[in-house]
Amino acid sequence: MAGSPRRRLSMEDFRPTTLDEVVGQPVAVARLRRILAGARNGTVVPPHLLLHGPPGTGKTAAARAFGREALGENYEANFSELKAFDDRDHASLQRIVVASRSPPPGGAPFRIIFFDELEALSPDALNDLRPAMEGEGGWSVFVLACNELGGLARALQSRCTVLEFTPVAPDDLRRIVTLALARTPFRLDAETIDSIVERAKGIPREAIKLLLEEGGSRTVAG
Ligand SMILES: Nc1ncnc2c1ncn2[C@@H]1O[C@H](COP(=O)(O)OP(=O)(O)OP(=O)(O)O)[C@@H](O)[C@H]1O
Ligand SMILES: [Mg+2]
Repeated sequence: MAGSPRRRLSMEDFRPTTLDEVVGQPVAVARLRRILAGARNGTVVPPHLLLHGPPGTGKTAAARAFGREALGENYEANFSELKAFDDRDHASLQRIVVASRSPPPGGAPFRIIFFDELEALSPDALNDLRPAMEGEGGWSVFVLACNELGGLARALQSRCTVLEFTPVAPDDLRRIVTLALARTPFRLDAETIDSIVERAKGIPREAIKLLLEEGGSRTVAG
């Protein structure tokens, strides 16, 4: 943060870019690492993944980090992210399904299609996805993320490795706050950090928001 003028901070500055930076999700991250190991040593194509859990616990961050680590140099050309509300209509989903059956560009072993915020998709649209998940060739790995598994067809769940994201333990939340704080010019006393950890109730996004609120209100840009 040295030098001036100082850039304004936003939530985006704290988005994890590697799985190491996804803190407090030991079970989900350990499974993602095992899957990555198989993908990297060339023995298996990753399974389709379904990440679920409360808002702000790291699903989008983990999906992108997984994509980066699984695809390496092929990431730019072979990772696509679709927010469900952008691609709700039948025709665009059909296009994705058809495209998912062709080999990925650049000689990559597979592509990753990340459907974030799955709950915005209608049941019909979700049905369109199902055959794509059984596409010949295994060229396309679908990563799906949602808050609640409840409304999702069992058939869809059963085609995925299902990974649960949970609220994180207080010590992990403290680590997230401390690491984030080190990337800011803010100085916060131990009491304020304790209060952020308590008020965030296990939700990292909430903790970062509180950090920006507390730090931002006490610091003047200079
Ligand atoms: N496990 C985590 N470790 C470190 N930072 C996290 C973690 N989870 C969330 N964050 C912080 O919160 C921000 C939001 O997280 P993210 O978008 O991945 O949540 P999400 O689970 O996808 O939420 P939603 O269900 O609302 O889409 C991240 O950019 C990061 O700053
Ligand atoms: Mg998300």
